[in-house]
Amino acid sequence: MLSLILHRLVFTFLVLVTNERLQRVVPQAPSEDPRYWQFVTDVPLKDALAARGILLGTAVRIEELRKDPRYRKHILEHFALLTPEYEGKMAYILPEPHKYRFAALDRLVAFAKKYNKRVRGHTLIWSGDLPRWFKEKEWKPEELRAFTEEYIFTVVSRYRGEIPYWDVVNEALDLAGDWDEDNPWYESLKEEYIPLAFHAAHRADPNALLFYNDFLIEGQGEKSDALYNRVKRWKEEGVPIHGIGFQCHLFLGFPDREEFLQNLKRFADLGLKIHLTEVDLPLAFGATPGKRLKQAILYRRLMDACLKVQGCEAFITWGSDDGHSWTGKSRWFSEPLLFSPSFTPKLPYFALLSAALEREGYSRLME
Ligand code: G3I
Repeated sequence: MLSLILHRLVFTFLVLVTNERLQRVVPQAPSEDPRYWQFVTDVPLKDALAARGILLGTAVRIEELRKDPRYRKHILEHFALLTPEYEGKMAYILPEPHKYRFAALDRLVAFAKKYNKRVRGHTLIWSGDLPRWFKEKEWKPEELRAFTEEYIFTVVSRYRGEIPYWDVVNEALDLAGDWDEDNPWYESLKEEYIPLAFHAAHRADPNALLFYNDFLIEGQGEKSDALYNRVKRWKEEGVPIHGIGFQCHLFLGFPDREEFLQNLKRFADLGLKIHLTEVDLPLAFGATPGKRLKQAILYRRLMDACLKVQGCEAFITWGSDDGHSWTGKSRWFSEPLLFSPSFTPKLPYFALLSAALEREGYSRLME
């Protein structure tokens, strides 16, 4: 009980600090003045970003894609890349031992092929959503090693040539940058499980780009520093890791503009691709016009950094609109995305469009 109270106190403190920090964000450059955005043309953001080499993507709910024509039309019209929000995880794919469930992912891949969209595989190894049978099993190291290789090979080889990007390992570090010890793979295999996972995925599809994906690594700090040093070593040891996914669930604080840019650059300088994989910027403690403006400015800063960093090739929101967000209908964290629940573009959409159209990409579009 005490730990629950403590947890709530810490969480409330974090939200209050965030809220205060967000209040301090003020426009710091001419192009952050929202009056500038009124003259942005209505070139679709997806196309404006494609001209700058960036895929605009979103997390999708496959069942709704099938059932809801308005949702399907919105996804087709505005996004070039689709990440399964849930059906690519072991909890869904392998609910019982040896009983793989691929129907949903098969449907998404077929849908993407029909409409010329890319699919981002999310995610092969994550302790955050595992089937009960897996969690209850006492894994011997050699058992878990064999299972992990078999699982990854079965899933990735099924979509060889059809899923070009995979989050091979998701959220393996704790907030201090140490290994998350509440992770069955770490408990049994220590850090060896990560190279093992990447090599297995590479054998299954040598052409897929393989990512490590995590949150709160956007700014420079002990977690991103620890990740940087580990990824650098893995690369030197020949581990087939090709990119980093920066989730950008930035409701617990936003990195300084220059710090964020330099952080992306140092990973890109290792020869890694950069994907912003789960972007959402909820408004803490409900919405006001001032917070909506500041939210749009922060979205713009994310895109400005991605446009500046060689190898930043995907900007993916975690949900296609405020009616399809994992944050639900919480008033504590509201209006996190680019579109309203009725699929109307909001200020952050135009902030991103203003970033995409600001330089040479615009002229190429208008040829
Ligand atoms: O589809 C089943 C339904 O049949 C069942 O009746 C119901 C109740 O058990 O569960 C439904 O599945 C839920 C699924 O979302 C689809 O809605 C799962 O319980 C629920 O755990 C799952 O939550 C997802 C969560 O990851 C865990 O997989 C969220 O939608 C998704 O937004 C969230 O996304 C994660 C990223 O993968 C990793 N980074 C953090 C991010 C936010 O937590």
